[in-house]
Amino acid sequence: MLDHEQVTIRTGRRSRLPVIVAVHSTALGPAAGGLRLWHYPDWRDGLTDALRLSAGMTAKFAVAGLSSGGGKTVVALPEGREPNDGERRDVLHDVADVIDSLGGMYATGPDVGTGAEDMAVIGETTPHVFCRPARLGGSGDSSPHTARGALAALRAVGRRLYGTPTLDGRRLAIIGLGRVGAGLARLLAAEGAVLTVTDVDPAKRELAGELGAGWLAPGDILAADVDIVVPAALGSVLTRRTVAELRCRAVAGPANDQLATPDVADLLHGRGIIWVPDYVAGAGGVINAVSTELNHLDPDEAAARVDAIADTVDHLLDTAQRHGHTPARAASDLARHRLHTGSRPA
Ligand code: PHE
Repeated sequence: MLDHEQVTIRTGRRSRLPVIVAVHSTALGPAAGGLRLWHYPDWRDGLTDALRLSAGMTAKFAVAGLSSGGGKTVVALPEGREPNDGERRDVLHDVADVIDSLGGMYATGPDVGTGAEDMAVIGETTPHVFCRPARLGGSGDSSPHTARGALAALRAVGRRLYGTPTLDGRRLAIIGLGRVGAGLARLLAAEGAVLTVTDVDPAKRELAGELGAGWLAPGDILAADVDIVVPAALGSVLTRRTVAELRCRAVAGPANDQLATPDVADLLHGRGIIWVPDYVAGAGGVINAVSTELNHLDPDEAAARVDAIADTVDHLLDTAQRHGHTPARAASDLARHRLHTGSRPA
């Protein structure tokens, strides 16, 4: 069953690449969600990603108490070749055409493979875009805010595990040193956390060195002997197989769509490992963008909203414990409640 309101798939007029815009829900307001420009073996894999990621955005906004719906755009790049600058502009203009044709039901933003400068290009064609650079009136790069929100979530986990939110001396394994992962690694290093990191790009070892972090191969990091594993890259890292390998006490991080299948949340719970739903820990970017660009909060107020992710995690972990079920269930119940009542938190 398709539970999305609308999915648009169009071959870009300029790029000839498939542009996929999935609008999952506008129940709480116009949909928002980033543009993922990524390589897929087949464009249908990009469609699968768009469907899952857009549903995740609906939950992300609902739990954050924001009046936006969930959407996502995926452009499936062919494997093995990066677009040059001209081709990239063509892709972005093709995306902008599709978004503009939706008449405001969906606005995009940055995601894996895109950033504020790309949003500037999209903004040449359509107003329905978040996170353009500050010089153009946008809120700019969302990744520092996502990293800040993930840190807030990790502190809440720290408090749950050790009775204190400080991460000084805690051992954390970060999977992925992209914009968000690298920013989070810096914040954690500054806090005194003992880091082990990985990335599919071996050049990121340099940052590991700079931060005094250990390095493991991507295939080895989930089994690292650490307190908390922090997914900060692509989705589906938590599978039946990888959960069996985990040696940590919690998994919490900003990567979207971390569970290969929903039942993996129960496996984590069964192993006594706390899993903070990705759409809670990774909400800082959209919270900042929507709070500043739509709700016109000043940067400090927006940052306070991002930091409040810690309260949300506290609340979800409490609720889960009280009911003896998973934080995933507590979060999806909260999302469903907000979607049904259209209500915002007090
Ligand atoms: N990549 C962001 C996320 O998954 C998407 C986003 C950021 C959308 C900022 C709009 C504004 O949450």
